[in-house]
Amino acid sequence: MASISTLFFQLITLAFAFNIVANGQSLKVGYYQETCPDLEPLVKEIVDQVISISPTLAPPLLRMHFHDCFVRVRYQNLCFHVTGSVSIIFLLIYMQGCDGSVLLESPAKKSEKDADPNLSLRGFEIIDQAKAAAEKVCPGVVSCADILALVARDVTVAVKGPFWEVETGRRDGRASIKSEALHKLLAPFSNISTLKKGFKKRGLSVKDLVVLSGGHTIGISHCSSFHYRLYNFTGRLDTDPSLDSKYVKKLKMKCKPRDQNSIVEMDPGSFETFDESYFRLVAKRRGLFKSDAALLDDIETKAYL
Ligand code: HEM
Repeated sequence: MASISTLFFQLITLAFAFNIVANGQSLKVGYYQETCPDLEPLVKEIVDQVISISPTLAPPLLRMHFHDCFVRVRYQNLCFHVTGSVSIIFLLIYMQGCDGSVLLESPAKKSEKDADPNLSLRGFEIIDQAKAAAEKVCPGVVSCADILALVARDVTVAVKGPFWEVETGRRDGRASIKSEALHKLLAPFSNISTLKKGFKKRGLSVKDLVVLSGGHTIGISHCSSFHYRLYNFTGRLDTDPSLDSKYVKKLKMKCKPRDQNSIVEMDPGSFETFDESYFRLVAKRRGLFKSDAALLDDIETKAYL
């Protein structure tokens, strides 16, 4: 069997073979070829410019796309008959909640954006900037959901990740509910059974769970997301024994006992580069979240590491 890191980079060959339906619409590469031919170069130019100045915006924009996709999933249309290689991107395309609902705002602060897991998302202004540029050249044509999907691809490429063709033609959703995001986005303290169930509910396999978790090869986390693993794992002021003890020491230097706000690199040493080292870290018991470490707790997920 190919290793998960190999799979991680075997991108999207399968994606081309399917005519994908999202929100009742067919998606295809080049959906805007007639109506907005300059869209993709335009988005790429904006992204390249932004990331050259602020490379740390790449991870939250990739994460934003995932959070957009994971919440409003149309279960009935999800079908996964994937044989052989899978890719992170292929999976994101298939998750039909990718409807831009994470971008919507409500005056009462009750939209997905306002849910706790989304409060640390950043980079909304880049989506606005790309959408405004698209509106200038082709008014009323391009959906925000497609802009977000293109931006997520382009930021990944900008931090040395792989390129993939983005199938476009998504329609923007009109509903965006805070509680839905809160309940559907998985918590960093999730155990393996919660993670597997959560992915399964969205038509995603165990292998998909491992591959997609690899998104944590870039970016940062606040101490609050894993603090309890260092200082109060079972309520007895203890440390999570599944964490590598040398790593615990390093993390404790960055996150002091009452510090929830400092940030740490999720993939120390290469947190600005989209590479395969996340999988090596997890295998060495250096996964930052319980949900990363949990990949070692199951025969099937462990086999991919
Ligand atoms: C499997 C379940 C997942 C859980 C429980 C989870 C949880 C988290 C948490 C708690 C953070 C840190 C937030 C903070 O403290 O600021 C984070 C960051 C991040 N996640 Fe996930 N995540 C999951 C899956 C994914 C997937 C599938 C992707 C993308 C494919 C992804 C991409 C990212 C990125 C890029 C960051 C860094 C964001 C930044 O630098 O601002 N995550 N995730």
